[in-house]
Formats: sequence, structure tokens, C-alpha cells
Amino acid sequence: MDGKFISFEGPDGAGKTSVIQQIQEDLEQQLGKEAVKYIREPGGSRISEEIRQLLFDNQNADMDPRTEALLFAASRRQVVVSEIIPALKAGKTILCDRYVDSSIAYQGAGRGLGEQEIWQINQFAIDGLMPDLTIYLDIESELGLQRIAEHRANQVNRLDKEKLAFHQTVRQSYLRLQQRHPARIKLIDASQPLPTVINDVKTTIHDRFSELF
Ligand SMILES: Nc1ncnc2c1ncn2[C@@H]1O[C@H](COP(=O)(O)OP(=O)(O)OP(=O)(O)O)[C@@H](O)[C@H]1O
Ligand SMILES: [Mg+2]
Repeated sequence: MDGKFISFEGPDGAGKTSVIQQIQEDLEQQLGKEAVKYIREPGGSRISEEIRQLLFDNQNADMDPRTEALLFAASRRQVVVSEIIPALKAGKTILCDRYVDSSIAYQGAGRGLGEQEIWQINQFAIDGLMPDLTIYLDIESELGLQRIAEHRANQVNRLDKEKLAFHQTVRQSYLRLQQRHPARIKLIDASQPLPTVINDVKTTIHDRFSELF
């Protein structure tokens, strides 16, 4: 497949969505609108967005953790088949707001289901399709939660409400993943001002794909 698959990872409030918005705009300038595809996870396709609604519905606070993990994997499966693979075949650059690493960190570590177990159900879902490059936006949990509280208080969802310890566990899992897969996962200090973070991300993307930026 000719396309480029870039995922963005990091704890809540790290700045993934903010960074991707700018990266998408700049890449569209360079490559043309059709050459770039943004996907948010869970979601990104019709069926996957329906699964997303189930996952984030505040009425579903009693959802079983394994149900939750399977729904994330199911949403991912659908978006891989219906959106990601076709876009890669068409040579597009995919900017994916979360992917498998999120499940390992949140469900595997955060919910205590086991990183290995979550990796296995996700293998079934993605059938080997991993990103070429993963941008990991690293941030102290307190600062990430503070950003969400300050800027998005009206949009806090069910999973944002988990306590600080949960977020710290998630971050530690991300850091382990980065250490285990240093060639794929690149760490960016997301506590910096947004323009600096964006610049670091662009440099990192360019290091991997010299034709971008
Ligand atoms: N580098 C930064 N410095 C200060 N504020 C930032 C920075 N990056 C993002 N923000 C602000 O923090 C808030 C969270 O950012 P954003 O929604 O991009 O994070 P996210 O990683 O996508 O979070 P989530 O995982 O919850 O989707 C936003 O209001 C954004 O404006
Ligand atoms: Mg986001």
C-alpha cells in the first residue's frame, strides 16, 4: 500500500486533536485536500461512530470493562476495513486520532484488563495493520486534566471523569510502549506551548517521511 499511516497518541488533554488540526491544514496545503485523511477513534466510519456513541454515553457508566474493550476493537475493525485500508491503497496520508496503543494504555493498563490481552483482541481486529509512525504526545496527568477542565468543561465525557490515578496509569503504559517500540513511537513533550509542539511534530514526521513538510 502506497499511503502513509500516522497515528497520534497521548493521555486526555495532551493536545492530539489540536495538533492534528494544524498538521492536517498544512499537509492539505502541501499535498491537496484529497491526499490527506483525518480519522478519529473510536469512530471514523458510520458504524464506528455509532459504536462511539455507545461508548461515550454517560448513561452507560455500568458498562463492563471487557464489553468496553471489545467495542473499541470492533469500532477499530470497521474503520480499518471501510476507511483506512482503502485510503492507504489510494496513496493517502492518514492522520489517526488514537489507535491500538490507546486501547493498550486505557483498557489494558487503566482498566486493568492486561496489556497483552488487549493487544491480542486488537490483533484480531486490525489483522496486522499498524501505523508507520506514531506521535506520542506526553504530558503530566495533572496538566492534561487541567487543560480539559479549563477549556472543555462543557464537553467532558464518561471516560474523562476517571480519577487522577487512572490517568497516571495510562501515561505509564504509554511510556512503556514508547520504550518498547522506539522506532515506531516518537515521544513529543506536549507540555510546551502549542506552536512548539506542532513544530516538533512536523520535524518528527519529516524525519520519517522526507517528502512531508
Ligand atoms: N500545548 C498546549 N498548551 C496549552 N493548551 C493546549 C495545548 N494543546 C492543547 N491545548 C488545549 O487543551 C485542551 C485539550 O486539547 P485537545 O482537545 O487537543 O487534547 P486531546 O489530546 O485531543 O484530548 P482528548 O484525548 O480528551 O481528546 C484544548 O482546549 C486545547 O486548546
Ligand atoms: Mg481529542
